[in-house]
Amino acid sequence: MAATATRFLRLSGALLLIGWLMFAFGRSAGAQTPPADPLEPGRQLYNANCAVCHGVDGQGRIGAALAKDWPSIRPDLTVETIIENGVPGSVMPAWSVANGGPLSPAEIDAIVQYILSWQTGGAPQITPPPTATLLPPITPIPEIDGDPNQGARLFAENCAVCHGEQAQGRIGAALAKNWAGIRPDLNLRAIISNGVSGSQMPAWSAARGGPLSDGDIQDLVAFILTLSAKQAQAAAPSPAASPAPGESPFSGWGGVAALLALLLVIVGLAALIQRRKP
Ligand code: HEC
Ligand code: HEC
Repeated sequence: MAATATRFLRLSGALLLIGWLMFAFGRSAGAQTPPADPLEPGRQLYNANCAVCHGVDGQGRIGAALAKDWPSIRPDLTVETIIENGVPGSVMPAWSVANGGPLSPAEIDAIVQYILSWQTGGAPQITPPPTATLLPPITPIPEIDGDPNQGARLFAENCAVCHGEQAQGRIGAALAKNWAGIRPDLNLRAIISNGVSGSQMPAWSAARGGPLSDGDIQDLVAFILTLSAKQAQAAAPSPAASPAPGESPFSGWGGVAALLALLLVIVGLAALIQRRKP
């Protein structure tokens, strides 16, 4: 009996160790981080918020080219101030939280560092293309022209920065809503083509100096109207968010082994105690 209990304890101790090792190993393998590039946070923020207008490499698009030398003793302060306050009279929004924008001082700082790295003499940059997210196919609304799937791609590239990834609104209005009117498609097409004067909403049509073709804009309209349709039938509340995988200490095989070992330890201890009893 004593031998059995001791063997039990040894076995479960070994298992506990194996479980812990597997868990720790899984952790470090999962938490793999590439060598820290000090410009990386700025790069990501820039790609998410600014590339749409200033180009991925700062070459300019709707907005001015930013890959240039800034004629200033403190270019960092110049660029920072512009980002914080925007450019009044243009579509360049004010980005700082203090001015009603979405970016914190630290985030703006990171973007400034990134932009200044484009100055001659700045670190050479290899900019990864923005990661494309795979979207489930969208069923078009029969009576609306345009391809909503193409529209979703265009939306992510051009509009999400201001209207939010789910068109829930950010700097710009929420677009996932019910559009009043008999022909909301025509209304939307006009707004997207011409912009909203006096706001940061740019004109997107090539005819108005924007980067999108009429076909692109029709695809966007088709996409936005599917959001509205979804919004209308969104009676069901979304399920509660489940914790991200890998966060629980008892997830994965390492966790299973650790739990098993713990159980064995308890059983073994119980056996020992039983034996000690006179
Ligand atoms: C909707 C388009 C748009 C977005 C998005 C946008 N900008 Fe701009 N930005 C502009 C326009 C337009 C100008 C004004 C260009 C001009 O002077 O004619 C501008 C000007 C600037 C300037 C001054 C350029 C110069 O030469 O003086 C900086 C710096 C700048 N933007 C940085 C940013 C940063 C950083 C972001 C992201 C956080 C951003 N912009 C997002 C459109 C945009
Ligand atoms: C630089 C930010 C910015 C970008 C980029 C932008 N928008 Fe806007 N958009 C706005 C703002 C701000 C308004 C709100 C104007 C208002 O009603 O005051 C707006 C308004 C709109 C409206 C009208 C909303 C309403 O309720 O009447 C539509 C539609 C729209 N945007 C579509 C788009 C589409 C499609 C794109 C991409 C091709 C886009 N926007 C890109 C800022 C932006």
